[in-house]
Amino acid sequence: MFITLEGPEGSGKTSHIPHLVEFLREKGYTVFPTREPGGTSISEQIRDVLHDLKNAEMHPRTETLLYQAARAQIVEQVIKPRLADGEIVISDRYYDSTIAYQGYGHQQNLDDIRALVKYATGGLTPELTILLDLDVEVGLKRKTQNATEWNRLDAYTVEFHKSVRAGYLEMVKAEPERWVVVNAEQAWESVQAELRKTILEKLNK
Ligand code: TMP
Repeated sequence: MFITLEGPEGSGKTSHIPHLVEFLREKGYTVFPTREPGGTSISEQIRDVLHDLKNAEMHPRTETLLYQAARAQIVEQVIKPRLADGEIVISDRYYDSTIAYQGYGHQQNLDDIRALVKYATGGLTPELTILLDLDVEVGLKRKTQNATEWNRLDAYTVEFHKSVRAGYLEMVKAEPERWVVVNAEQAWESVQAELRKTILEKLNK
């Protein structure tokens, strides 16, 4: 089972995933967490280039292609083999991030972006995608309180991040059978409880 978590900046995905993994392992599932961009040696090197604040001149097409390069590697090296072994893979972001950030955020042609992500993933689609949704300004404020995580994309304008969030919400509407929206402005424990419930329901189907 392939599960992905998505959301605007500061939605808390990264802090929730280790607790979800522990919870599912206690229930006897074999679970493997991954993150994008990253999760392999090559993909982590590409992540450094993408997120480096020094690379302010990076063109949106360069950015788009680098995310796909990182993605192709983790799909082939990690995600597909784990899924083939019957594991649950939970990814902190996947191709919906490209559609939201590089498509809606940079206002690039969505059909071109969809074709690129299909190429990068070989068509591998998650069975469940959870959107941790929250007000963009609330999320960015959370992130500024944790300066070590501030990257080149966080530094884009608030308008950019609002387009990203709007993009996610359109994607949910277009494909409601794959997406579940969780309100990430709730207390951390309530968000964690909703995530656990959503994933268990999907596993028990
Ligand atoms: P994060 O690890 O803090 O979520 O940082 C990942 C950043 O990369 C975040 O700003 C979203 C961005 N991103 C894209 O713009 N496109 C993508 O395809 C992915 C995976 C991430």
